[in-house]
Amino acid sequence: MPDAARPDRSPVAEGSPGGPGAPGLVSPVRTVVYFYSSTSGMVRSFALRLGREAFDLGDREVRRSVPDGPWVLLTPSYKTGNVDNDTIPEPVRRFLASPVTRRRLVGVMGSGNRNFGEHYQAACRQIARTSGRPVLFEFELQGTTWDVEEARSILEDLDRALDVEHTRREAGAQA
Ligand SMILES: Cc1cc2nc3c(=O)[nH]c(=O)nc-3n(C[C@H](O)[C@H](O)[C@H](O)COP(=O)(O)O)c2cc1C
Repeated sequence: MPDAARPDRSPVAEGSPGGPGAPGLVSPVRTVVYFYSSTSGMVRSFALRLGREAFDLGDREVRRSVPDGPWVLLTPSYKTGNVDNDTIPEPVRRFLASPVTRRRLVGVMGSGNRNFGEHYQAACRQIARTSGRPVLFEFELQGTTWDVEEARSILEDLDRALDVEHTRREAGAQA
């Protein structure tokens, strides 16, 4: 959840009850997702099916907030003719302007369309390259049911890995 969460920047999706996050089954770390989606809403549709908190970067209050823990970016690519910088949606670019936000980013997922050839997933790949974070998953358009399951599983693995890291650091700090 972002710092100083208020209703107008609350997630558009919550974790599903009894699913990931059920006591004793998975790690307590819950990586949140921040996504941008245009009016065609394909990324939004995917984000809503992930079963965890998802914040919409189309919302100005969300864009102005800073994630208070590890987060994953979910972005489409938009090639509008400028080879240098137009492929990353502006709301995503603005959100990434904060150094703290960039530091807490743990990975990137992308929605694209293979019809765009060499520009396929350009935004996701460019952000991963410049941030040094991994591309966690790529899919086309709103994704298939399989894509959603795969992304859920990747996020759960990520939660567990971050939890191990967190526990290790805590133990190190107390030693
Ligand atoms: C004008 C336009 C430009 C696009 N440019 C790219 C591109 O460069 N690379 C890519 O992989 N997909 C590209 N796409 C596909 C979108 O990224 C993809 O459809 C995505 O699912 C859209 O998500 P949204 O509906 O949530 O905005 C483009 C789509 C449109 C309409």
